[in-house]
Amino acid sequence: MGRPPTSRGVWYLVLLALAGDAAWPPCRIDADKRTGLCKGQDLGQVPRDLPRGLRGLDLSYNKLREITAGDFAGMTQLRRLDLGYNNISRIAPDAFLSNLLLEQLRLFNNSLNFIPAPALRPLVNLRWLDMSNNLYGSAALDGAFGGLRQLRELSLGGPLLRDISRGDFAVLKDTALQKFAIKSASSLRRYEAGAFSWLNTTELWCDIALDENAAALPVMLRDLRGKALDYLRFRNLFEFTYYTGDADPFAGLADLQITKLVFFRGKFNENLLRLALLNVQRSRVRDLALVAIDFARSPRWNGSGVGAAAPRLDRLLLQDISNPDVLRFDWTFTWLSGVAALSIINVNFNYVPCDVWGEMRNVEVLDISGNRLEDGYIYNQRCHYQDVMPKLESFIVATNQLLSLAVVAALTRTWPRLTRLDASHNSLGSLQETCQWSPTLRWLSLHHNRVTASTFGCLPTTLEYLDLSYSQLDRLNMDYFTRSPRLRELRLSGNKIKFIPSEWRCPRLEVLAIDGNSFGVINRGSFVNMPRLVSLAAGNNPYHCTCDLYLFLEETRQRGRPTLADWPHNWTCYHPEPLLDTAVAAYAPRPLECDVPALVAVAVASTALAVAACAALCWKLDAAWYLRATYRLVRAKYGGRRAGAPRPCSYHAFISYSCADADWVRRELLQRLESTTPPYRLCIHERDFTPGRWIIENIVENIERSAKVIFVLSRSFVDSEWCNYELYFAHQRAVGLGSEDVILVVKEPIDARGLPRRFARLRKMLGTKTYLEWPREPGRRSFFWLQLRSLLGNPGGLGPANGEEETAEEKKILKKKKRGKKKKISRPETE
Ligand SMILES: *[C@@H]1O[C@H](CO)[C@@H](O)[C@H](O)[C@H]1NC(C)=O
Ligand SMILES: *[C@@H]1O[C@H](CO)[C@@H](O)[C@H](O)[C@H]1NC(C)=O
Ligand SMILES: *[C@@H]1O[C@H](CO)[C@@H](O)[C@H](O)[C@H]1NC(C)=O
Ligand SMILES: *[C@@H]1O[C@H](CO)[C@@H](O)[C@H](O)[C@H]1NC(C)=O
Ligand SMILES: *[C@@H]1O[C@H](CO)[C@@H](O)[C@H](O)[C@H]1NC(C)=O
Repeated sequence: MGRPPTSRGVWYLVLLALAGDAAWPPCRIDADKRTGLCKGQDLGQVPRDLPRGLRGLDLSYNKLREITAGDFAGMTQLRRLDLGYNNISRIAPDAFLSNLLLEQLRLFNNSLNFIPAPALRPLVNLRWLDMSNNLYGSAALDGAFGGLRQLRELSLGGPLLRDISRGDFAVLKDTALQKFAIKSASSLRRYEAGAFSWLNTTELWCDIALDENAAALPVMLRDLRGKALDYLRFRNLFEFTYYTGDADPFAGLADLQITKLVFFRGKFNENLLRLALLNVQRSRVRDLALVAIDFARSPRWNGSGVGAAAPRLDRLLLQDISNPDVLRFDWTFTWLSGVAALSIINVNFNYVPCDVWGEMRNVEVLDISGNRLEDGYIYNQRCHYQDVMPKLESFIVATNQLLSLAVVAALTRTWPRLTRLDASHNSLGSLQETCQWSPTLRWLSLHHNRVTASTFGCLPTTLEYLDLSYSQLDRLNMDYFTRSPRLRELRLSGNKIKFIPSEWRCPRLEVLAIDGNSFGVINRGSFVNMPRLVSLAAGNNPYHCTCDLYLFLEETRQRGRPTLADWPHNWTCYHPEPLLDTAVAAYAPRPLECDVPALVAVAVASTALAVAACAALCWKLDAAWYLRATYRLVRAKYGGRRAGAPRPCSYHAFISYSCADADWVRRELLQRLESTTPPYRLCIHERDFTPGRWIIENIVENIERSAKVIFVLSRSFVDSEWCNYELYFAHQRAVGLGSEDVILVVKEPIDARGLPRRFARLRKMLGTKTYLEWPREPGRRSFFWLQLRSLLGNPGGLGPANGEEETAEEKKILKKKKRGKKKKISRPETE
């Protein structure tokens, strides 16, 4: 039943066009033709046919060798151009003549032998220019750069740059830069005093190796004296050799304004680090980072200044250092004593001596994540953890190999100010332990561990925030939540929780994340015991799209609380099967299906329903009529048979309809069905009831003589106050029939919710039973008739109209009746 392939192809093209990115081989151009992406396409030259209105163009990682005058001609809107990682050795002087709005230009890693000053001259709006990693041997900037007054970030240099001369950057003297970065050859041959003195920049990045020219560093520092420089970063300061000189290469550091200093890569021995720290100690630096340095002990250790270096730092970062000796580089930990935020990340230490805890007396935040620490490495029973870490508020031991929560608890239990603990990405939680926690702890993150329901027994109950996401948790421990009265935020995403108990009591909880678990059911009762809940994330669960979920969502929407943080993305149905993988947002139950009053009404026994309906009658109509009607009904139902002989009439169907639809019933329904050969025999009250008999007796009897009951539902059926009492009794009668004997014909679209309550049975059937809709388009009506006839069965099946012979159909009905009401109904023949 698939479409013909051609039409599918057309759809595919339409979809492609709608999807946004237009194909413009080898480039991708976005829908509004603002950005072009031509990255890594092996291009030997700039494509000719690019839209001229582009604002951003990425041509990096290609094989461009040359930029010619025509390449970007006409691209007057161009703001960002990336030409990095090509092999460009020449840029025509008029290459950017059209691109006066250009703000960002990247020429990183090309083969330029000269700084392309003539080409850059027109770019007066340039703010960001990276032309480092090229092959020019001189960094002298010519007058053109003086005109680039908007320039904020400038990177230059390359592997062939050996000399930096005094006047190289003179043209920048009036340019207020945020960042200036310079890269030189592996060992700078000459730095001429004064070169940096022209710079006015907030950040200075020096990728300059001084292996053979350490004396240049104090000269550089002197040139930076008194400048508004805040951030200084060295990369590969000593690239291949450890510094062994006697002079202090960092002399002058104390005279700078900088507050942040970074050493990235390069070789550091104990002596060099000590010299750096001694200078930092005297300087204004408050933030020091040693990242990816290659640390080694000094063979000739000058122990005279041991413990003297103890800079006061807001932050010290030691990261990606393969030699953990860096931590106690002068055989003490004194240098850590002035640090407020200490991060030791990926340094691979596997032993924390007792005295280090005592030294970190000013540390407020301690981050030792990513170190493959095991329990025994950080917790040593012989150490005293009492009276240490007096200021520590936040402790981060994420991404290690800890197994025991009890160990983490014991280590931190006596730290007086500890409030936050992040132990995510470990293997905590699978041991059966008892744990004693610091009473000040408020915030605990344990995501990506291995938590079970029994882990809750080991968690602190003083928490306001708890994160147990992605920890293979499959069950909740309700007891824990009642014992944790402060809990305000709970994160349980990405676990395997299979069900949400309705007794989940957590009185202060405000934020709850339970997305990505394995439960299928939540309902209006699920979170009632969390009166303060304002935010709930619960997508990515295998939902059963049933009334429970629907009513929960309806109620949440109406109350406006809690907010569903991840709605509607990732809320998908998993069950029932026809709804598999559809969005929960698209799930709308059929009319009445989830109407609680209707459901309740159905749940009540049919007698109770009758009583309710009678009460309604009583109220609506005058009581005398009502009593008489009820009496007749009862008599007709139970006594009628025995009293008078039943009319020997049998029908294929009894049709129940509102008087407003009488015309349609006669014109369409009867016309059509009674004109078949053999004709269907249908019973309608206006024609087939025995005159002079009480109408209710007529109804009851005729329904019992009919194989099926057809209800014609229309707006007037819904809207009109009882057009016909008969309708009501027919309905009541149908309650006793099996649902397969009732056919619902929806003549015009109705709002089933508007159906009066007394038709509860009908409402339920509309929700659960398929009904026939009378199509408006005449062309589709033949199918309607086909369906109706198939529901009515073969018209020949009833036997003669006078009912002398009992048909199979009738036998079936009667047998059913007999089963239901045993001796009350007797077969017509035997009477
Ligand atoms: C780069 O271009 C030069 C000529 O300018 C050429 O000799 C060299 O092979 C090219 N390099 C690459 C990697 O294509
Ligand atoms: C450009 O990058 C490649 C690979 O990253 C490198 O081999 C090449 O040496 C770089 N070119 C320059 C001039 O640094
Ligand atoms: C440096 O630039 C700033 C603006 O960032 C400016 O206020 C200051 O006067 C400049 N200093 C010198 C010495 O030019
Ligand atoms: C050790 O360093 C101090 C300065 O920190 C210096 O005065 C002393 O001469 C050095 N001693 C040796 C043996 O290098
Ligand atoms: C939906 O779930 C996926 C993981 O299955 C996640 O990456 C994504 O962020 C989620 N989207 C939203 C809107 O929550």
